[in-house]
Amino acid sequence: MVHAGAAAPAIEVIDLKKIYRGGIEAVKGISFQIERGEIFGFLGPNGAGKSTTIMMLTTLIKPTGGRAAVDGLDVVKDAYRVRTRLGYVSQDLAVDDHLTGRENLILQAHFYHIPRYQIKARIDEVLELVGLSERCDDRVEFYSGGMRKRLDIACGLIHRPSILFLDEPTLGLDIQTRHEIWRYIERLRSENKMTIFLTTHYMDEADALCDRIAIIDRGVIKAIDAPAALKDQLGGDVIFFRFSEGSGDAAAATLAAMRKLPGVKEISQRGEENVVVARNGDLMLPRVFEAAQKNGARIESVTLKRPTLDDVYLAHTGRALRDQAADGKEEAQKQRVRMRRARR
Ligand SMILES: Nc1ncnc2c1ncn2[C@@H]1O[C@H](COP(=O)(O)OP(=O)(O)OP(=O)(O)O)[C@@H](O)[C@H]1O
Ligand SMILES: [Mg+2]
Repeated sequence: MVHAGAAAPAIEVIDLKKIYRGGIEAVKGISFQIERGEIFGFLGPNGAGKSTTIMMLTTLIKPTGGRAAVDGLDVVKDAYRVRTRLGYVSQDLAVDDHLTGRENLILQAHFYHIPRYQIKARIDEVLELVGLSERCDDRVEFYSGGMRKRLDIACGLIHRPSILFLDEPTLGLDIQTRHEIWRYIERLRSENKMTIFLTTHYMDEADALCDRIAIIDRGVIKAIDAPAALKDQLGGDVIFFRFSEGSGDAAAATLAAMRKLPGVKEISQRGEENVVVARNGDLMLPRVFEAAQKNGARIESVTLKRPTLDDVYLAHTGRALRDQAADGKEEAQKQRVRMRRARR
């Protein structure tokens, strides 16, 4: 049931679907809820359906099936009122290079029909929120990548939305600038009690910034929880080790002995590598060596790995997220920025 009124969650999605003309099923019946004040992340590779979902929630495209409510309002039946409640910052940079930061915001204020007498105060307010007060009268072409993105975010805040949608807010930015954007996003939540829905294909971003994440792949939500909980669900640490060549029967006996150790959940092989899943991997490591020694095998190399969000992703989708396509996308984004600059 879709809730209504003040008790409603910030976002409620029930069996939402999108089939594009031509038959591409971009979103295949997803459901989730986002509480007020939450930073919620949609993590997934190219073509997973992240932008499509954001565009349905922000009323830019119509769902093919299912329902969604933002701030208790139906995104189809109440699209106009939904738009007044949300801010949307698209995947592409939307600001105009030829204008100053302030001029971009004035344009945006007019789009949103902010009364003239309120415009200056609103602009000063959002400039302060994204830390651009001092540079607001410089032309955007002289801004760094991070400043442009912050101005983009400021444009999405001018009408004081209670829910902010950020589509790939740090795409193509260097790591330091990405951390800076994270700080501003956290600040919007802590100081302004905003609910934030963001999409990303960066694991570290989802891990560091989001209270909860949904892993989306080919239009389907594969997992949804707090990053720490998702990692815990993998069942433990992983020890990778190799036997020295010629360990033969001794290796087989060692593996058999290890299977009986308390705390060992699973042992498997990937090529030459033996993979042990166990709780408290650091305590298990000496037991691995003991088992080898007792059975006359030698271990050549060993690595202990605690689960990361990458492992969670791999477990749920069978693929690593950091693929070439993601790199290609960053490159495409940088190219767009270069072209905008060259167009002057
Ligand atoms: N307007 C459209 N018409 C037809 N198909 C589309 C359209 N927009 C997106 N698609 C397709 O829908 C699927 C989901 O695309 P979407 O842009 O939502 O993915 P995404 O997760 O945002 O990917 P990215 O990480 O590249 O931004 C893809 O297969 C894409 O090709
Ligand atoms: Mg996208």
